[in-house]
Amino acid sequence: MNPDTPSTPSQYTWAGRFSEPMSDLVKRYTASVDFDKRMWRQDIRGSLAHAKMLARQGIISAEDLADIQRGMVQIVGEIESGAFEWSLDLEDVHLNIEKRLTTLVGDAGKRLHTGRSRNDQVATDIRLYLRDSIDDIQILLGQFQTALLDLAEREAATPMPGFTHLQVAQPITFGHHVLAWYEMTRRDAERFADVRKRTNRLPLGAAALAGTTYPIDREFVAAELGFEGVCENSLDAVSDRDFAIEFCAAAALLMMHISRISEELVLWMNPRFGFVKIADRFCTGSSIMPQKKNPDVPELARGKTGRVYGHLTALLTLMKGQPLAYNKDNQEDKEPLFDAVDTITDTLRIFADMIPGVTARPENLRDALRQGFATATDLADYLVRKGLPFRDAHEAVGLAVRRAEERGVDLPQLPLAELQSFSPMIGEDVFAVLTVEGSLDSRNHIGGTAPEQVRAAIARARQRA
Ligand code: ARG
Repeated sequence: MNPDTPSTPSQYTWAGRFSEPMSDLVKRYTASVDFDKRMWRQDIRGSLAHAKMLARQGIISAEDLADIQRGMVQIVGEIESGAFEWSLDLEDVHLNIEKRLTTLVGDAGKRLHTGRSRNDQVATDIRLYLRDSIDDIQILLGQFQTALLDLAEREAATPMPGFTHLQVAQPITFGHHVLAWYEMTRRDAERFADVRKRTNRLPLGAAALAGTTYPIDREFVAAELGFEGVCENSLDAVSDRDFAIEFCAAAALLMMHISRISEELVLWMNPRFGFVKIADRFCTGSSIMPQKKNPDVPELARGKTGRVYGHLTALLTLMKGQPLAYNKDNQEDKEPLFDAVDTITDTLRIFADMIPGVTARPENLRDALRQGFATATDLADYLVRKGLPFRDAHEAVGLAVRRAEERGVDLPQLPLAELQSFSPMIGEDVFAVLTVEGSLDSRNHIGGTAPEQVRAAIARARQRA
């Protein structure tokens, strides 16, 4: 069909003012129902609260309210069963539901929109939708965190090399490393809780932009819908989407963390590292190379991080040029926001599932530790305790490391006499500090890697949960 074929003007709610019908191309270009219908529950919830308020305030009758409630019950059933017919001609989720309501209950349906505009309606729907999504996300984040704490607990005393510059630096415990991941997610959860507060305000009552002439009760609607308060300026209420931007920023940071975790899992699964195994159900094979086992899930999570960053940028850009109040531009807020919600929801779900399937490989972790002179700092600290200034100790140990390297051994394998050639302060007791366990146990303060501290941190985390 020619995209410019006109539709009949009479089917639009605003047809009265128009002398020429909208072309099909314009209809497709301006409609949002294909993606905003996912907010149908929030739309109906908002409408029911609004209708209840209208009846309480005597703006519509009790019979009208009863009709609206009855109609909405039927509509919920139709949408849930898939019988509801969504129409592009009716542009968006709001007009689709309102039209159906009017078909079902007549004039009461036409009275629902009294004192309201789609501008405050859509702002309310998005806020409700986002609030519901944040609550789901917090549950998933909690499950992910529990999985991380369980893994940290299993490996609380498992030594591994800690890295800086991706070079072996000092011994740490595997549990300590996993707890670093946990801490990242803890701040993520705080950020989402914070976004929720500013999202959880009621725009309804702002109407198109200036408020409404009816004696409405916004506080009542806010309480009905579980909002913590009302948006206090009608222009701002219908126009700003900063809460959605904040959400995408929090989502971007969460994905940044998950991407870093993913990068480590990918490296650690490589046989050159061989630090972990990931359960087969999270990996895939290759269609050509029979030996392959690829860490697809972490790789994809790393990749999907980019699209969430993109959504943040899209929303920031969407808002930057908009004069007050509502502009149709705002309809473009939904797809990025929804995709950000979907992406982090799926990613968290799969990570909460996958982490219990990650197992450490203690032998390989210890081998890696033996190859990097990881206890060199401990030797320097030992010399400092014996009275040598730190810079001198650093130099002496540097020479010892070079010698060990030449011999192809680790520091504790150098004979005592040889170690003493670098500093006469070195005694028999040096071997206790050169062991991995000695190194770990000595970092025994809050935030340190000692197994005792790892267990204490896990206990505190479980207490908070
Ligand atoms: N579908 C629109 C949106 O998502 C709803 C609000 C429409 N308002 C208007 N004045 N055309 O933003």
